[in-house]
Amino acid sequence: MFINNKNYRTVWMQDNYVYLINQQLLPHKFEIYQSKNHIDTANAIKTMIVRGAPAIGAAGAFGIAQAALKFNGDNIENFKNHVEKAANILKSTRPTANDLFYAIDFVKNKIMNNLNFEDAKKDSVKYANEYADWNAELCRKIGEHGNKLIKNNQNILTHCNAGALACVDFGTALSPIRIAHYNKKNIFVYVDETRPRNQGASLTAWELAQERISHAIIADNAAGFFMKKKEVDMIIVGADRIAMNGDVANKIGTYEKAVLAKENNIPFYVAAPLSTFDINSKTGEDIPIEERSEDELLYIHGIDENKIIRKIRIAPEESHAKNPAFDVTSARYITGIINLISFINTNIF
Ligand code: MRU
Repeated sequence: MFINNKNYRTVWMQDNYVYLINQQLLPHKFEIYQSKNHIDTANAIKTMIVRGAPAIGAAGAFGIAQAALKFNGDNIENFKNHVEKAANILKSTRPTANDLFYAIDFVKNKIMNNLNFEDAKKDSVKYANEYADWNAELCRKIGEHGNKLIKNNQNILTHCNAGALACVDFGTALSPIRIAHYNKKNIFVYVDETRPRNQGASLTAWELAQERISHAIIADNAAGFFMKKKEVDMIIVGADRIAMNGDVANKIGTYEKAVLAKENNIPFYVAAPLSTFDINSKTGEDIPIEERSEDELLYIHGIDENKIIRKIRIAPEESHAKNPAFDVTSARYITGIINLISFINTNIF
């Protein structure tokens, strides 16, 4: 993605460091976070310095490479135990996005058959980079396929951030929107603010502004208003995990948008790479839903007139909150899944 005329990926590795665009600070500050080891990378995933299913997957893959490179024992069995322990630490950071588990296992399984750990160390970096490149390419293809669904002069609604920031590059839901814009289609994007963490207002709006794509941030509870007024032609969202029956776990609030879309006869698409599909989840019922800190609801973050980023309490001191981070949308509400191969109609699952 282009930021200030320079091409960036959301996550990459150089020497033994993992570099991440720090998403805690956007849109107010653009900063690169440098993670020195796999514990640091696990912490960056947990605290959402890096977030979005494909992006945390790639960060997990690089985390395995960092752990492998730091091994200073003297036999392959100890090396395997060390990598296994690192994989468990990285996997314990966030439970819902399938990509995290898929990516960690991809690199781990590639290196575990090595007979000596020096080769395994080299392979860990090679395969983590291969994973990141593969993911970026899948997202680019999602954009090309999804672009075919978008007509000139259409208004598209999206929820949360499923842009380049949520992936290695291009994005999932935002990839077709990007490619449509590059193809000079006149499009307008309704950006759900996406409470409680505001990934729409902070990150999606920032990405669209960088690309000069016309958009407006709307309150989450305004989506139905615009759908009913026939101002939304289609909806595209990303996914954190897709079950084998086509049920989709995505950011909290996705489900109600999908129900409203059906009520208003608006096509509802999910865009996701292969790493998001979970062969072990038969239906959405099997998907673990992350419960996050109540502070995300009780406080808001923003920048004040002196350009200082602040956390402000908005709820009474006595009040508590419940904060599930994802919900599951049943396949029956989904018009299709935009994947690298084609549009998978959910009826064939
Ligand atoms: O909690 P987050 O910000 O990591 O959640 C990400 C999402 O749910 C996004 O909507 C996205 O679709 C999945 S990543 C492309």
